[in-house]
Amino acid sequence: MYENDIASVLISEEQIEQRTKELAETIAARYPVGAPEGDLLLIGVLKGAIFFMTDFARALPIPTQMEFMAVSSYGSSTSSSGVVRILKDLDKDIAGRNVLIVEDIIDSGLTLSWLMRNLSSRNPASLEVVTLLRKPEAVKVDVHVADVGFDIPDEFVVGYGLDYDERYRDLPYIGTLDPKVYTD
Ligand code: XMP
Ligand code: MG
Repeated sequence: MYENDIASVLISEEQIEQRTKELAETIAARYPVGAPEGDLLLIGVLKGAIFFMTDFARALPIPTQMEFMAVSSYGSSTSSSGVVRILKDLDKDIAGRNVLIVEDIIDSGLTLSWLMRNLSSRNPASLEVVTLLRKPEAVKVDVHVADVGFDIPDEFVVGYGLDYDERYRDLPYIGTLDPKVYTD
């Protein structure tokens, strides 16, 4: 489909599936079923986290509920400034709930640190993060991320929800783009 645009497959479909199962089992063990906080509430960050959210939710051996939020960070298309605007907010109150943010990728970590502050102020019982991918920069930022699928090099990646100019989200794997795509 996009074979001519993809320079390399960084993480295969099988690797994503395997790691998602591992994360789901580890994370589920922390949330006792039948707790007074109710079902674990997954908050997916649109649009990049859509495929990870749906695969992760189905891999979790505990009941969950789902909410989505869309945010846009001011800055250039390839780096974020940390100033964030809410494009779509949650439909429900999260006070007293166990909340798990489901992210596609953490790069500078600025978007996530803003999101954590914003959601904390709504008084959830607990607030944690799982991200499929993490770039090296993110390690420097003071955001507590307990669970990371894959640490990847500082390269622009697409697929499995991640886009370049809204394309390639539908690739089933994570790949790097051929530089010709963004130079011509
Ligand atoms: P920060 O820098 O605030 O930003 O952690 C995270 C957001 O930046 C986008 N991002 C990417 N999107 N391929 C993408 O398709 C990438 O390699 C990439 N790196 C960062 C993404 O929207 C993420 O939520
Ligand atoms: Mg994102």
